[in-house]
This record gives sequence, C-alpha cells and structure tokens, in this order.
Amino acid sequence: MTGKLEGHAALITGGASGLGEATARLFAQEGARVVVADIQDERGERIAGELGDAAVFQHTNVSDEASVAAAVDRAVKEFGRLDCVFANAGIVGAMGPIDETPVEEFDATMSINLRGVFLSMKHAARVMKPQKSGVILCTSSIAGLRGGLGPHVYATAKAALIGLTRNVAAELAPFAVRVNCIAPGNMATEMIAGLVTGDPDKVAEVGQAMAAGSPFPGRSGLPDDIAQAALYLSSEAGAFVSGHTLVVDAGLTTGSGQAMPLFTSYSPMVREAGRRGLPEA
Ligand SMILES: NC(=O)c1ccc[n+]([C@@H]2O[C@H](COP(=O)([O-])OP(=O)(O)OC[C@H]3O[C@@H](n4cnc5c(N)ncnc54)[C@H](O)[C@@H]3O)[C@@H](O)[C@H]2O)c1
Repeated sequence: MTGKLEGHAALITGGASGLGEATARLFAQEGARVVVADIQDERGERIAGELGDAAVFQHTNVSDEASVAAAVDRAVKEFGRLDCVFANAGIVGAMGPIDETPVEEFDATMSINLRGVFLSMKHAARVMKPQKSGVILCTSSIAGLRGGLGPHVYATAKAALIGLTRNVAAELAPFAVRVNCIAPGNMATEMIAGLVTGDPDKVAEVGQAMAAGSPFPGRSGLPDDIAQAALYLSSEAGAFVSGHTLVVDAGLTTGSGQAMPLFTSYSPMVREAGRRGLPEA
C-alpha cells in the first residue's frame, strides 16, 4: 500500500517542535521526504535522524530571506522536486496592553509571524510556478479570526496570513499551485504551555487544562489534528481546495463550548408573525 504523499517532497518550517514536528512525522509516514527547517538545531537534527532517509534538517531562520531561500534550494537539491511548503514557524511574540507594547517588539513579532510566511511563500512560488504544481500552506490561528484570543501583534499577523493566503492563491491558481491556510485553536504544544504556565515543558499539564474547557469534553487539540489537516490540504484529497482557511478548533469559534440554553429543551416553533415580537408578514 502506498502513502498519500508517496514520492512527494515537502519543506516544513518550525518542523522541530509541536505542530510542525507532528506534520513532518505524518508526511514521512505517508511517503513524503521532508526538509525539517527550524532555528532549533539539536531538535531538528534529532527528528530528521529519527525519520531516516525520509528527512533532512536545515537550519532556517524564517525572518531572514537568504535563509529561507537556502532551505527551499536544499529541498530541491536533496529531493529533486518540491511539492509542499508548509510555512508554519511562529512565536507568541509581543504581549500586553497596546499602549505599553514597544514598537520594536511589534516589528520582531511580525518579522517571524508575517514576514517569515511571506518569504516562505515567495520562495515556494519561485520553484512551483515554473514546475506548474505544488501546495503552499501556512499556519494562522483562531486569534486571526476573532478578537481577544491572542496578543495584539500575534492576532494581527495571523489575520494577515488569511489575506495573504487568498491573494497568493489567486495569483498561483493558473500555475496549478494551491495555497491554503490552517487556523488551529488551542493545541497542546510547547508554545501554548509556555504562554499559559510560563514553562514550555508543561505540555501535558496544559493539555489537561485545555481538555477541561474544550467544546469536546475531555479532548484538547493535539499536534496530530493539525498534521492531518495539512495532509488533507497537501494531498490529492484536497486537489480542488485553494485560498481556504481550514479552522481546526473543535468549533470554538462557532460558539461551541459556551452554554446555550436554547439547545437544552424543546419548545414549539413560533409560526405566526406578530407573536412574541416577530414582524408582521
Ligand atoms: N499551539 C496552538 O494552539 C496554536 C494555535 C494557533 C496557531 N498556532 C501556530 O502554530 C505554529 C506552530 O506553533 P506550535 O504550537 O507548534 O509551537 P512550538 O513552539 O512547539 O513550535 C514552533 C516552532 O517554530 C520554530 N521557530 C520559531 N521562530 C523561528 C524562526 N525565526 N525560524 C524558524 N523556526 C522558528 C521554533 O523553534 C519551534 O520549533 C505557530 O505559527 C503558531 O503561531 C499554534
């Protein structure tokens, strides 16, 4: 039996941890070869080593154009092709009230969370346009969809990624290159553990806390939920999907998980206009 990505070559930024690591592992399991691109050398090397011939590690700082270009070139050199670039690397970045946020922290956060994705898309397109195939993915967030779900600069960058995805998808459709975005909500990773507890190692603890407040009782989001979304979007199963933001949040942004008394007991439908404040027909 062949995998869903048999023979494919992928580049995953932020591949040394969390959502990117889970995606690298799943892609390799599905037959892809992967460049794990990250600033964390030791972890990246270890993960690539565990994946054997299916992966190589490339030190990559996504906010640096030469570094991103080199990672894309490494994928092409190593595997002779490039089918998927997953621009996933990101940080929480600047935190706190807007009137106290130093502009340098705004710039530093945007340089990774927005410029890093722009550069990844730019250099993916450099290879994919002439080959007339490929998939570009990026990681937004539910913080980019609704207010109050993340720090200001983080939310700004994540909202911008949804617009960037749509625009680049519009440009690249004639080249048969699909561009999509994933918006995760509350996945148990080191980033969230660090944000919530101050200690990135407390992933299990934060996962339990998130499970308690999850729309799906007892079930927090897991890195593999995002890996599966990336697999769908990058494989043949997602062949007609482009410019889309796939929200993976157990319905949190629909209002799931909030008490809805309207759903608790049946009452007959109001059929006559004018009753209980309904407008006249
Ligand atoms: N965990 C969640 O609930 C959640 C929700 C929404 C969005 N996200 C997004 O998912 C993505 C992955 O986050 P995660 O939760 O797996 O966190 P994580 O901290 O486990 O992984 C992020 C990875 O990005 C790498 N990275 C950071 N800066 C980099 C740079 N300049 N160049 C290259 N690599 C860099 C880190 O070294 C790390 O390996 C991020 O973009 C994050 O904003 C996460």
